[in-house]
Amino acid sequence: MNDKLLVVKEDVDRLIATAIQEIGTAESSKALQDIRVKYTGKKGELTQISKQMKDLEKDEKPVLGQLINEFHQTFNKTIERKQEEVTQKELAAQLASESMDISLPGRRQNFGTRHLLTQTREDLEDLFLGMGYQVIEGPEVELDSYNFEKMNLPKNHPARDMQDTFYISEEVLLRTHTSPVQARAMEKHDFEKNGPLKMVSPGKVFRRDNDDATHSHQFHQLEGLLVAEKITMADLKGTLLQFAKAFFGEEREIRLRPSFFSFTEPSVEVDVSCFKCGGQGCGICKGTGWIEVLGAGLVHPNVLEMSGIDSTKYSGFAFGVGIDRVAMLKHNVDDIRHFYQNDLRFLTQFKGGQN
Ligand code: PHE
Repeated sequence: MNDKLLVVKEDVDRLIATAIQEIGTAESSKALQDIRVKYTGKKGELTQISKQMKDLEKDEKPVLGQLINEFHQTFNKTIERKQEEVTQKELAAQLASESMDISLPGRRQNFGTRHLLTQTREDLEDLFLGMGYQVIEGPEVELDSYNFEKMNLPKNHPARDMQDTFYISEEVLLRTHTSPVQARAMEKHDFEKNGPLKMVSPGKVFRRDNDDATHSHQFHQLEGLLVAEKITMADLKGTLLQFAKAFFGEEREIRLRPSFFSFTEPSVEVDVSCFKCGGQGCGICKGTGWIEVLGAGLVHPNVLEMSGIDSTKYSGFAFGVGIDRVAMLKHNVDDIRHFYQNDLRFLTQFKGGQN
């Protein structure tokens, strides 16, 4: 090896030694990048050395080429290993600097509450589901034939006056009660296949009433219907007593008073003993000890027949509960309009039930 080559070889050796040392002390990706440029960049130190190639003998040139390759291999391997280490450290530092203070109080989420009417409807549904009833829904925009005629209220019957409503056309109206769902359910029911018909049907109803503290042009009912063989008033009374106790308290009693509905015969108004005073007489029961909660009766044979059911074989009972009314009674709400005004001061008082 002649002198010139020897000198170059020494330069390369020295260069790799200082490079390895510098890489070893580098603390950041940026520092490593600078080292790369310093040694192998266009104006880098290795580039300077390779320029001496032209001064070498022909057979010496491959030797320098080999030295340069070896430099690259060692240099790259060392820098890559260091890069991994630095990246880990940098990542850890970044994570540490971005960590959050979990002891800070969070931002409060304002969870809504289920509307008291929804809670009440679901309570009623659960109660009757527990007694083997199914829950079905009917349309709010109803045909005159279902709302009135199939409920044994032919056109021009005077009892229609009590339930004047909003008409969309001669034959289409906003239903005045949930009773039309009785007819819809009976028409579809297959006794052979499914046994007795037991259903409740909750929903909105409408009447052309003047709104006041206890009346609204829109309110809610829960209809109940049971049709099977040999159903009597005793079945109705037992069922309603169970409802009264479950909904208003174990101590409750009920009493039936004769009434009139075109679709039931006999018809009754059902009172529950006052849950406030226990029957002594107070403001809620207006001194009588009893509170009227629903209308009911045995399904009129005409109604069964109009819905395709043999009234000599089957009989049934039906009842209609005002959901707004029982919610008002149970929670001492003094004005039905509170339900429809969306005032949070009212709504948030009823956080009961699962939200
Ligand atoms: N549909 C009646 C009403 O709205 C209530 C009722 C339902 C009465 C079922 C008897 C049987 O007043």
